[in-house]
Amino acid sequence: MIQTWRLDSKTQSFVLAAEHHALPSVIYWGALLPESENLETLYHAHQQDVTGGMLDENPALSICPEARRSFTGQAGLILYSGQGLPLFPKFSYSSDIYQNNKLSLHYRDETLGIKYQADFEIYDDSDMIVTMAKLTAELPIYVHWLSVPVVPASPSADEMIDFSGRWCGEFQEIRTPFKMGIHSRDNRTGRTGHEHFPALILPIKTTTHNNGEAYAFHYGWSGGHRMIAEQLPDGRRQVQFGNAPHTEQNHTQNFQTAPCYLTYSHQGINGCARHFQNHLRNHIVNFPQQKNRQKPRPVFYNCWEAIYHRHDVEALKQIASMAAKLGAERFVLDDGWFGKRDDDRQALGDWQIDRRKYPDGLTPLIDHIHQENMSFGIWLEPEMVNPESELYQANPDWVLGDETQILGRQQKVLNLALPKVSDFLFDSISNLLSHNAIDYIKWDHNRVLPMADADQTRGIYALLDRLREAFPHVEIESCASGGGRIDFGILQRTHRVWLSDSNDALERARIQHGAALFLPSCVTGSHVGPRHCHTSGRTHHIHFRAWIAAQRHMGFEMDPRELTDEEATILTNVTKWWKAERDWLMNADILRLDSDDSAVLAEQHLSDDEQQFVVFANKIDTSAQIAPFPLKCCALQADAFYDIDLVNRDELHHLSRGNIRIKTEGLRLSGQYLMRYGINLAWSFPSQVWVIKGKKIA
Ligand code: DGJ
Repeated sequence: MIQTWRLDSKTQSFVLAAEHHALPSVIYWGALLPESENLETLYHAHQQDVTGGMLDENPALSICPEARRSFTGQAGLILYSGQGLPLFPKFSYSSDIYQNNKLSLHYRDETLGIKYQADFEIYDDSDMIVTMAKLTAELPIYVHWLSVPVVPASPSADEMIDFSGRWCGEFQEIRTPFKMGIHSRDNRTGRTGHEHFPALILPIKTTTHNNGEAYAFHYGWSGGHRMIAEQLPDGRRQVQFGNAPHTEQNHTQNFQTAPCYLTYSHQGINGCARHFQNHLRNHIVNFPQQKNRQKPRPVFYNCWEAIYHRHDVEALKQIASMAAKLGAERFVLDDGWFGKRDDDRQALGDWQIDRRKYPDGLTPLIDHIHQENMSFGIWLEPEMVNPESELYQANPDWVLGDETQILGRQQKVLNLALPKVSDFLFDSISNLLSHNAIDYIKWDHNRVLPMADADQTRGIYALLDRLREAFPHVEIESCASGGGRIDFGILQRTHRVWLSDSNDALERARIQHGAALFLPSCVTGSHVGPRHCHTSGRTHHIHFRAWIAAQRHMGFEMDPRELTDEEATILTNVTKWWKAERDWLMNADILRLDSDDSAVLAEQHLSDDEQQFVVFANKIDTSAQIAPFPLKCCALQADAFYDIDLVNRDELHHLSRGNIRIKTEGLRLSGQYLMRYGINLAWSFPSQVWVIKGKKIA
């Protein structure tokens, strides 16, 4: 008997089928199939031939490939009994729940007393499939590895895109040929990490940002992951995602993976990016509401690179007033306000206001900030402790890892699996939030774990959930030395990410561009840094710094006292522009443009009603050719007309001497022309952003 199940969204179909009550396989995932497609026929059509050098039948590439069914590739699970013996389950169907857009499949291995469950949900609005796997055991077992339901990969994807990175260099795209054998990305840092963003994109041959088919995966877990992309000797391919193996500290009777987000698009890699951005806005991030309406995202000011640990109330008030004048609407007091935190060697864990720096507490500063019409946010790094702190001296047994472990930024990690640690942090933070008018927490995490430990991730999720429930009006930013903890798991509990500690606009442009494959502007923090960048040593003009920050959730991080009058005016004007546009920009999709010039990194931000857009053409290098190439737009209506205009005409350089129309006035052009020919840009030096606004003619 053949069992079949089918899930459809607006543009994709996902079909599962099984025979003899075994685990099913995904027999089709891709463009929407006709409603009348016969799924049993599909099952037969999907079978692969057998010849010499093979078993007499092809073992199924199921949603959890089982070694006991002669599957010789990477198994979907690796388990051990309570006595440490390897277990090889062979599951049979027990039931399913199949309703609307949801499917839950239940299997069991009677002999071993283990149940396996696979859940799928398909979202019509965001075109996203969310899937996860669960195990239940009669006796405690050790779960070394459990993959989310396994999906096959198309043989037409000749390469895979995944992500590596480093501090100040997140979201570096790596393209690897998809070949026989396994390509695995293993993150054993215990946090999402700068090094391995948990995602994979499989573009079909010739796919570009805007054309062709692509498949994409993101694993929403903040504790480190494993990704396996494998091609078997028979040519079939599988993709697995799960928690980093061997990160469980205990045997268990219940285990579940984190959700994995899958999406397919026939509108290029951007199609997948739009699905992720949409899904994040609609189903992951949960902004506090103001009278049933989302508050506009405020312009940030963060004082870290202005003062570091040298907190002085009068200086901070002056900085706050200057930031407000530039347009800031939220002031974030960074590291240095608590304990004896005069540098990063001490005081983490001592979450009391430092009375040497704040003799009357934080209230006088907060009042001043409120008078300047800004809300107030504060920095915390709750999961960490410095050995040189009162907390550690009193509770040396509260930390993870050995006593003699290697420190990271002079700090150790608190063990959040201990209820007393979690309670201590909840009480300390509650106390701070209850006695001070705090609207925002920048929640930092500045080192990897001494050893990857899944309970730590469960602990931080539980603590954040508890705090969110107690203080629903407080927003949280996920920071981990910049972008070390960015994923849909943490973003279900937070509202913004500090994408990188690099405020170098040039580096930031590239990092933002990489992150746009998953993250929309509304959660992606981007700040105007100091004139001389502290993390790269480069110097950038304020125009460049301001426009790069204006491409995401905008903020400032330089000391405003360093700004010349001219710089302050430019920054104020760009910020005004951002505020005037933010209502639609923060709900827009970021589409990466297929720029013919590798020196131009370009994006088109398209409003959710597709009535307006802005193109940011970031010139990050000197071009190989002399004059700029036309830059093609995307996702416009071919037969509609658009008024386009250059927003920052005042930045034209005198060495741009040509008589091109956009330098002096706007143009009305068809979508077809804008997508097929493009826009001719003005010549410029590198480190220039051209901002082109487009509006559809009704
Ligand atoms: C690392 C963060 O990424 C910075 O922005 C800053 O908050 C420092 N930590 C403070 O210690």
